[in-house]
Amino acid sequence: MSGRTTVVLATRNAKKIPEMQAILLQAGLDAEVVGLDAYPDAPEVAETEPDFAGNALLKARAIARHTELPAIADDSGLRVDALNGMPGVLSARWAGRFGARTGDRDAANLGLVLDQLRDTPEERRGAEFVSAAAIVLPNGQEDVVEGVMRGRLIDTPRGENGFGYDPIFVPDGEQRTTAEMSAAEKNAISHRGIAFRRLAERLKDLV
Ligand code: IMP
Repeated sequence: MSGRTTVVLATRNAKKIPEMQAILLQAGLDAEVVGLDAYPDAPEVAETEPDFAGNALLKARAIARHTELPAIADDSGLRVDALNGMPGVLSARWAGRFGARTGDRDAANLGLVLDQLRDTPEERRGAEFVSAAAIVLPNGQEDVVEGVMRGRLIDTPRGENGFGYDPIFVPDGEQRTTAEMSAAEKNAISHRGIAFRRLAERLKDLV
């Protein structure tokens, strides 16, 4: 391919763009990453699949079709051992309409998981964050990879960084929650960091 490749990251979160750009550069790939803000008419894709990989592929396919460029999308969530892997793909809307009503969906979701684990002893509070990252090319070639970060859930939220369930998640080998880490510290070990670095390796063969 001649010139610098452009890759669309299926997100409207401006923070994810430089993060992905840096990961691609580290992998030796000189591609420009643009977000969906550059494509105001891009379709909103409902996450209707039962797993993270399926939802990531749905989003990447829709954006590759719309932009006619290679598209990357991720889908992620928290799997709690004592809840048989839930909230899983429902992580963003675990507290349902109650979460939407309170105006702070993240706090409502986290509060519900804490309530559900109230009587669960320390040794059974294992959990993991999972991220699936998909790449789809306009010619239909596609690939999807996963990253996992294991840890445990504490019962009192700590830390101001990050989002979602970060204030109650302590990664294996750590004492701090992921909300007490800097973005760079978290990226180095996180499910999304792992998945995006794996995807960057695949991308080298595809573009
Ligand atoms: P999505 O990938 O944007 O669909 O995110 C799904 C949901 O999973 C988020 O709304 C969070 O509740 C949760 N989640 C995913 N990754 C993280 C993370 O790194 N920290 C905390 N919560 C996360």
